[in-house]
Amino acid sequence: NIQVTKPALTIRLCGPRGFCAGVDRAIQIVVLALKAYGAPVYVRHEIVHNRYVVEGLEAKGAVFVEELDEIPAEHRQQPVVFSAHGVPKSVPEDAQARNLFYLDATCPLVSKVHKQAMRHQRLGRHVVLIGHAGHPEVIGTMGQLPEGTVSLVDTIADAEAYIPADPDNLGYVTQTTLSVDDTAGVIAKLQERFPNLTAPAADSICYATTNRQEAVKEAAPGCDLFIVVGAPNSSNSKRLVEVALRAGARRSILVQRASELNWDEIGQIETLGLSAGASAPEVIVDEIIEAFKQRFSAEIELAITAEETENFLVNRELRAVPLTIE
Ligand code: F3S
Repeated sequence: NIQVTKPALTIRLCGPRGFCAGVDRAIQIVVLALKAYGAPVYVRHEIVHNRYVVEGLEAKGAVFVEELDEIPAEHRQQPVVFSAHGVPKSVPEDAQARNLFYLDATCPLVSKVHKQAMRHQRLGRHVVLIGHAGHPEVIGTMGQLPEGTVSLVDTIADAEAYIPADPDNLGYVTQTTLSVDDTAGVIAKLQERFPNLTAPAADSICYATTNRQEAVKEAAPGCDLFIVVGAPNSSNSKRLVEVALRAGARRSILVQRASELNWDEIGQIETLGLSAGASAPEVIVDEIIEAFKQRFSAEIELAITAEETENFLVNRELRAVPLTIE
């Protein structure tokens, strides 16, 4: 009668983790639009960078498109939702020109960055946007201003190489989901080279990004493995992997579903760190914990560094529409 004892494992579970108020609001907007106007509801770009969320909404009748011209003429009266990452000004203009009814799910904290970029420009400053090329949020923020009036800087090397037309008239904003520490380095380099560089009125990196990175820093030192639940195209989730490694986790990986876990590679570990990006649903965190519990005698230790109470209201149209019970 052989008794198999599972190896002991401590799971350091980070808090805050997972959904932020902007993601929560964006998903609510699609769900409410489906209830109020019926299917299909079109969504331009992945509403948030998470396949599980996207597939869940597709099952309810949401149809994801990359561009507005993919919406068939016979469905023009159905709403189209713009994703949480924000869109260039040309997108709502294009929607109006096509007579589409749109609901903007841009996170209010992204809209705030848009306003600060516009403010710099109004005051005669050339805008330096710190962020990752090609990310939809960066495309959206650059698209608030006329072409050629925003310069994108990503790394310290970019900040070193950047040659502005007027070095005394610069204002910066950043993407909301950057690494807090890396961004501080890029800003310091820009300030060193351009002492008259104007900061935005408030930090562009959002509370959710900052808090998730803080909790990871607290939990990561000494972890044999650190798992971040999130998608490969999720900027804030990728930053959490880097933060975990820098804070002292021996290994760190991004995982979308428990089924992706490679148990041979994971091997014998004693301490696991666990967090989730702002677009990753809690059910997947639960699924990962369950998978570890099947193989380990796991004990959960919380690494909580902040309380979050942020909650953003949905669009006025959706607040006013009387919802019938399904
Ligand atoms: Fe908004 Fe920050 Fe979430 S900008 S969508 S609260 S990650």
